[in-house]
Amino acid sequence: MNIEEITSYCKRTGIIFPSSEIYGQMPGFYDYGPIGVELANNVKQSWWKNFVQNRQDIIGIDGSIIANPLVWKASGHIDSFTDPLTECLKCKKRFRADHLIESKAEMQSDGLKKEELTKIINDKKIKCPECKSSLSEVKDFNQMFSTNIGAVNGNTAYLRPETAQSIFASYKAVMDSTRISPPFGIAQIGKAFRNEISPRNFIFRKREFEQMELEFFTKKDEKNECPFFEEIKSMKLNILSAEKQEKGISKAEEMSIRQAFEKKIFSNKWQAYWTAESINWMIGLGINPEKLRLRQHMKNELSFYSAGTVDIEFDFPIGYKEIQGIADRTTYDLTQHQNLSKQNLEYFDEKTRKKEILYVAAEPSAGVERIILAILFSALTEEKERTVLKISPKISPYKAAIFPLVKKGLESKSKEVFDALKKEFNCFYDESGSIGRRYRRQDEIGTPYCITIDFDSLKDDSATLRMRDSMKQERIKIKELTEEIKKRINKSQA
Ligand code: GLY
Repeated sequence: MNIEEITSYCKRTGIIFPSSEIYGQMPGFYDYGPIGVELANNVKQSWWKNFVQNRQDIIGIDGSIIANPLVWKASGHIDSFTDPLTECLKCKKRFRADHLIESKAEMQSDGLKKEELTKIINDKKIKCPECKSSLSEVKDFNQMFSTNIGAVNGNTAYLRPETAQSIFASYKAVMDSTRISPPFGIAQIGKAFRNEISPRNFIFRKREFEQMELEFFTKKDEKNECPFFEEIKSMKLNILSAEKQEKGISKAEEMSIRQAFEKKIFSNKWQAYWTAESINWMIGLGINPEKLRLRQHMKNELSFYSAGTVDIEFDFPIGYKEIQGIADRTTYDLTQHQNLSKQNLEYFDEKTRKKEILYVAAEPSAGVERIILAILFSALTEEKERTVLKISPKISPYKAAIFPLVKKGLESKSKEVFDALKKEFNCFYDESGSIGRRYRRQDEIGTPYCITIDFDSLKDDSATLRMRDSMKQERIKIKELTEEIKKRINKSQA
């Protein structure tokens, strides 16, 4: 499947569709439909359970989308959160210079300065894709959406371009209200907004999107003291190092996490650990491990706050693209906020009686939409007579669908089964169309179990349980259905 096919599949099935489309296109903005909202909630809940609730060393927050604009001054986003922009000198259409170069000259231009991008546009004679006229010099375009607070004009504020800053800005309040000590993490799931010059590739690059982020703090000289490193060091990954990319090589090589750490592909052991944890979580959701690789950022493409970043990339039909970054943000953010706010953000160690700004050894930062896209590309399967979304039952929008074999005479028993099951899981009731068509509709949205009530059910209190992937059917006692489905979901058998 390509991006266009996934786009129309998502619209057809009610997973995701363009926002407010009845009024025309609003590029970069999408709505989740009835199936998509369940899928997205399940992905977020799985992340929260895995990275927050199942651990003792992580706590969560949910920050506001609009904060004091000084947050963005301190963080550097007002000055540095820009994309390179070029404008057609005639029709005035605007383009993202690096993307234009990538598509027209088929060369990577990540991290190049605006002067270098301008030179490539001139040297390669790249023209406006719309009207073929000349393009302007490349300029910086700040990606933050601005708004105005209250009734006073000029009271500018910004929609957050990353959830991370809510964590840094409320760090003092979190520390004052908990007794957590390093190493520890603060996690958050929430919306972020970037005024992309050219949103594209369906939900891959949106203007309003959702992040699942975690800032993991250690003492500066303890960033390699990760007690879990031993557990993950033998895990093998496909890795594209910065060194290889700088030599023009784009083929990843398999190596263990330990080897990658020794080659300084990871900045520290906690970064390696959180990379492994993230990949394991993704594989657990059903993302195809063979389509994953890890790419180290080259020096010239590092974000302004990062001492070292690795991206988990997925092999989409548009090429390998980031679905999660893991940055070593150093003491940069807390230092900046301490300086501008004049508040003491140092950690005081009762034992050593020393104070220090804690170090963000790793910031795993995943985009909900990109994870969903990787799940869809991993799980959507075209078979001879059906399209099946073979996702993990744990994240299926509906866990079960209940069908009366025929409309008349079976309604009461079927509703009884539906009412009992929906107390435990999100379920769907469908009595329209042939049984075959009803199975197909559920296959397409990933429902792992379909339960059919027939006339025998009225006599023997049994129903037919049909499995999504194998299409096998079993006769099962109605009173055992809930436990049986629970058991299978936990074992993730469909
Ligand atoms: N916090 C990292 C990012 O938004 O890319």
